Amino acid sequence: MKVVTTIAEVRAAVAEARARGDAVSFVPTMGALHDGHLSLVDAARRLGRYVVMSVFVNPLQFGPNEDLAKYPRDLEGDVERALSRGTSIVFAPSVDEIYGRDRATEIRPLQIAEEWEGASRTGHFAGVLTVVAKLFNIVQPDFAVFGQKDLQQACLIQAMARDLDFSLKVVVEPTVRDSDGLALSSRNQFLSARERKSALALPRALTKVRAAHRAGVRKVAELEHVAEEILSAEQGIELDYLAVVDTRTFKRVRTVAGNAAVIAAIRVGTTRLIDNELLEP
Ligand code: PAF
Repeated sequence: MKVVTTIAEVRAAVAEARARGDAVSFVPTMGALHDGHLSLVDAARRLGRYVVMSVFVNPLQFGPNEDLAKYPRDLEGDVERALSRGTSIVFAPSVDEIYGRDRATEIRPLQIAEEWEGASRTGHFAGVLTVVAKLFNIVQPDFAVFGQKDLQQACLIQAMARDLDFSLKVVVEPTVRDSDGLALSSRNQFLSARERKSALALPRALTKVRAAHRAGVRKVAELEHVAEEILSAEQGIELDYLAVVDTRTFKRVRTVAGNAAVIAAIRVGTTRLIDNELLEP
């Protein structure tokens, strides 16, 4: 069976793979798969022979003002894309299968979640960590693969795996971009051609920051200014945040000295986009 919907079925499939001696890698998704997700499958295949992908639109990570009902869903297409790229099994549970019992527990993140995406989307990261912890316990993989585009999420998941002693390795893969530079995201489909053109200011600004950092600029005020100039010159976008942060704490730093990334979120029309560049990984 290549597509399963129950916890018992996915556990049985993973147990069989383990009995064959296969390492298990895991790609959690909310579906609406694009090439970014499929590159995570490629990475998962390099790490472990048996690749599990979950497709689950997690209601817990949507805020009251975020439209869960509008989240793009195409399970049939997702399954086809995932399997043709080498995924061994797709786990597509119902909300009831995951949250059916009365829930008395959630995973609440600490410092890393306080600002940026955490501030803009109240409760979002508690929802993400709770479902990811559940999925880790259900699948029990050796490796779990996430994309760098959601950098704050990836760092939180790495911290959770460490803090709660999950016995797996969290791997973060580079962001995949379209040929025009825009980071792949299931939200890009909501952009009109004009909005997309405006949105390109975001990767342009972040690339310029990285270039300035490579050229030796270490003062964060100077680096942020480079990006702000580009973003403020672009009509039709609204800056939500732009910051150079330490990726271990997600606190803004004043000077770049290791473990730094420039992160940003913008609104283009009704679409919110995030992106980042690592400065000192
Ligand atoms: O990044 C996502 O698609 C989701 O936040 C995740 C990690 C699958 C949890 O629902």
